[in-house]
Amino acid sequence: MAQTKTEGPLARLVIHDLAHRNGPAEFAADVRRGLSSNPKQLFPKYLYDSLGSRLFDAICHVDEYYPTRAENEILTRHAEEMVAGIPDCRTLIELGSGSAEKTRSIIEALLLHQTELLFIPVDISASALEKSSRTLLAAYPALRIEAYAADYLEGLAAMQPLAPGPALMLFLGSNIGNFEKAEALTFLRAIRRMLRPGDALLLGADLKKDRATLEAAYNDALGVTRAFIVNELARINRELGGNFDLWAFGLRSVYNESAGCVEVFLESLRSQLVTISGLKLSITFQAGELIHMEHCYKFDVDGLSALGLQSGFRLERTWLDERQRFSSNLFRAADS
Ligand code: TRP
Repeated sequence: MAQTKTEGPLARLVIHDLAHRNGPAEFAADVRRGLSSNPKQLFPKYLYDSLGSRLFDAICHVDEYYPTRAENEILTRHAEEMVAGIPDCRTLIELGSGSAEKTRSIIEALLLHQTELLFIPVDISASALEKSSRTLLAAYPALRIEAYAADYLEGLAAMQPLAPGPALMLFLGSNIGNFEKAEALTFLRAIRRMLRPGDALLLGADLKKDRATLEAAYNDALGVTRAFIVNELARINRELGGNFDLWAFGLRSVYNESAGCVEVFLESLRSQLVTISGLKLSITFQAGELIHMEHCYKFDVDGLSALGLQSGFRLERTWLDERQRFSSNLFRAADS
């Protein structure tokens, strides 16, 4: 009888799980720090536990959240043109790959011209990584995957030096907008350091637009975004022994036009005392008090080009969706 094969598509997968290493201690320390500060805040990277990653996928399907559809439109339409500028690209890296649905257009465009590709996804959610990797490997026999369950900077730091040949880095979904301006620069410089002159970065960035569209995108009527955000409180309840009443918080997403940024808050709907037994911490909330959860900066092409120049990249080409809501920007790592 034939032996049970341990090969199959999974033989082409390596997952480095760094998120487990000091995840719980870091989560506890960050929650303590954020809820003890004034104004209160919580950190967005903790939104993406395995339920949170699924809720985020659901956000990508609600009517009001246009960025995923707009970016997907651009990638399906222009992927071949995009990769034409990086001939013989053997390494595709993606920071914050999530379900990696949009990545498929790029992978398929690359595999039109070559028989091998190494994909290096980094995502904070090990479960999302594992699921997306299985799906991709089953679909693309020419693909190998070396995945990092880690936050962006940990993932970048842990990566092996890149194999010879050009590399393409993806940073999609306007995740760049979730950094403060100075952090965005630091982060792009860290990406630049890992690339070599001539390597490319494809950066997805949502564009400035009217307030109504933006605020609806971050507060959909179905309440999926609220569930996604409130899940961070639920996670504190689950993992740190909190007793947040999840119904006692509402979602407030406000476009700050002068800053060009949607600020996402939870609002305490009454005055209340919350206890987190695992942290031996009690926190009072006034009625109407806000917890800052996320900023989502919006861009224009000039600003993106300037951001690139300040971090060692040259903006080569920008593609927009038909309705000009979202931009995909191909940057080239300049000589250092
Ligand atoms: N990168 C996504 C964005 O800025 C993240 C996101 C989508 C998000 N919807 C959200 C973050 C709602 C917080 C709340 O669009």
